[in-house]
Amino acid sequence: MNFVRSDFPPGFLFAAATSSYQIEGHGSGGAGPTHWDSFAATPGNVVRAENGQRACDHYHRWEEDLDLMQAMGLDAYRFSTSWARVLPEGRGAINPQGLDFYDRLVDGLLARNLKPMVTLYHWELPAALADLGGWRNPDVAHWMADFATIIMTRIGDRVFSAAPINEPWCVAWLSHFMGQQAPGLRDIRATAHAMHHVLTAHGRCIQAMRALGMKNLGAVCNFELAHPADPSPDAAVKARLYDGIYNRFFVGGLFKGTYPEEVMEGLSPHMPKGWENDFDLIRSPIDWFGINYYTCKRIAPAPEAWPGFSEVEGPLPKTQMGWEIYPDGLEQILTWLQRDYTGALPLYVTESGMANADTPQRPDTARIDYLDAHLAAARRAVAQGVPLKGYTFWSLMDNYEWALGYEKRFGLVHVDFETLTRTPKASYHALREALAR
Ligand code: FCB
Repeated sequence: MNFVRSDFPPGFLFAAATSSYQIEGHGSGGAGPTHWDSFAATPGNVVRAENGQRACDHYHRWEEDLDLMQAMGLDAYRFSTSWARVLPEGRGAINPQGLDFYDRLVDGLLARNLKPMVTLYHWELPAALADLGGWRNPDVAHWMADFATIIMTRIGDRVFSAAPINEPWCVAWLSHFMGQQAPGLRDIRATAHAMHHVLTAHGRCIQAMRALGMKNLGAVCNFELAHPADPSPDAAVKARLYDGIYNRFFVGGLFKGTYPEEVMEGLSPHMPKGWENDFDLIRSPIDWFGINYYTCKRIAPAPEAWPGFSEVEGPLPKTQMGWEIYPDGLEQILTWLQRDYTGALPLYVTESGMANADTPQRPDTARIDYLDAHLAAARRAVAQGVPLKGYTFWSLMDNYEWALGYEKRFGLVHVDFETLTRTPKASYHALREALAR
């Protein structure tokens, strides 16, 4: 790695990230079913119909996983709490084992000098709430705020930071318009409702956590620069629309109290009643903002119904996901967000990493290069005055990559999904050395 800690501002935090459904093993500890279990059980949705029932069995092996982070010299760990583990039916009866698990985890992190950075929701909606319409139902904001109060009453006194929802675009657009993640819908009205409710739920959870006296509350969105696939004016218009849906919709709500006009051309007729009145709630003050960044997109016009675009393959080298490697995009996103939306608000890179066909024997040099180049892009943004306070690697270990099952490996630590043996990869060691220098 071509960096040392002192290349970053004093107090800069290095972290690794995971999420509950992707690592814990939902078959253990009394967790209720989630909409990912039903999505995975639906033929054709997930590679080999794999689900998160066992995953990395982190539920039982969490101490080993925390030891690995401590030995690596990390400062913080970004993890998520499973709603259905704490409230198996989404509301009502609490599963005490679930609360105990997160309580032990937080204490285990503090004992190892790792700062707990919590995400309340990383996609595994309790199935009982999906039955009631899930993100389409305006009540989801209240259900989720109740969950926030329950889990944070237990652990909120000891966490370093908290954010309600991971990647609103995935929760709403990818899952309700593109149908590629749970609940697997392709419905514009469901999408319009989910796009908005994900933000009202964010606001209600921020308020619920404030009411408990919690500090350092934020939000986490994902970003991808959208390049027009060709020089035509049409491609430029479609790239701008993609950018509106992906990059500007949620920060528009969170920081400006408006949604992009070109996006509303499609969504307006389908929005939930009274949505215009929710922006005070959505704009509840936050203390930091998190950016998940992986790649860029090439957008071409497509002769289809709104939004009438398609993604086409770009020229840059690609990861195992087929995603182009574009570190400059991270610098551009960070400087753009600071200039147009977040100003002096502290920023964190909350996810960054690549999938690679790793084996424990072969060094993952591609990942070392990827992370090095993206950390350099982050440094360039800092040099331009972006108040970046930390950088989080996705992921601590190989895990359940959603619709792609266990095939795509994002970990700094290799996981053998037969034996569940953890083996640190070359990238883990390279980061450990850089962080110790
Ligand atoms: C992000 C998700 C994370 C993981 C990575 C590869 O969009 O937050 O769970 O799937 O992509």
